[in-house]
Amino acid sequence: MAAARKRIAVLVSGRGSNLAALLRQDCGGDVVVVASNKADAGGLAIAREAGIATFALDARQFADRAAFDAALVAALNEHAPDLVVLAGFMRILSPQFTMAFAGRLINIHPSLLPSFTGLDTHARALAEGVKLHGCTVHFVTAELDRGPIIAQAAVQVEDDDTPETLAARVLVQEHQLLPHAVRLFCQGRLRIDGARVRVQPPAAA
Ligand code: GRF
Repeated sequence: MAAARKRIAVLVSGRGSNLAALLRQDCGGDVVVVASNKADAGGLAIAREAGIATFALDARQFADRAAFDAALVAALNEHAPDLVVLAGFMRILSPQFTMAFAGRLINIHPSLLPSFTGLDTHARALAEGVKLHGCTVHFVTAELDRGPIIAQAAVQVEDDDTPETLAARVLVQEHQLLPHAVRLFCQGRLRIDGARVRVQPPAAA
């Protein structure tokens, strides 16, 4: 019997190009809801266009981070997600949120973690003079931009790169890497083993 398709929730704050990349491929799951902390996020428009449920929560309407995160967990749970994908979601999440989706919460980050956690990763990579840069998809834990790494892709840093040119080349890789990682998750092939993620071979047909 074929395994049930996974239900995927995606959180975005911006243009949503990684969401669009996920929607272009069959990752073995269906994006059932897209949520944002910004009502005008481009990613929400992409989702609506694709006929996917959306909602936005405005942090200013909540007393504190705990209240916002509790509301976000509750609203996401209405869609019964098997997997929650952070695709450019620009908010720090509380341990309550990361615990609620432990083992089924993943993030795409524009650097080769554990180098360059946080913001402005491309400018910082150039400032450090690294020759390889890239992107990482990882399980999310309470620690920002940490958590077991699922997959990474690297690009060469060129002598004439600017943060913008480097970001553009990394983004091309992100659009391959995120669907790849989501597919592995949906196929049930990811085993978290301490800090490591072991990728199981595909099930025999
Ligand atoms: C990507 O670079 C992602 O790695 C980072 O935020 C950016 C989101 O871009 N976390 P988009 O909204 O998917 O176009």
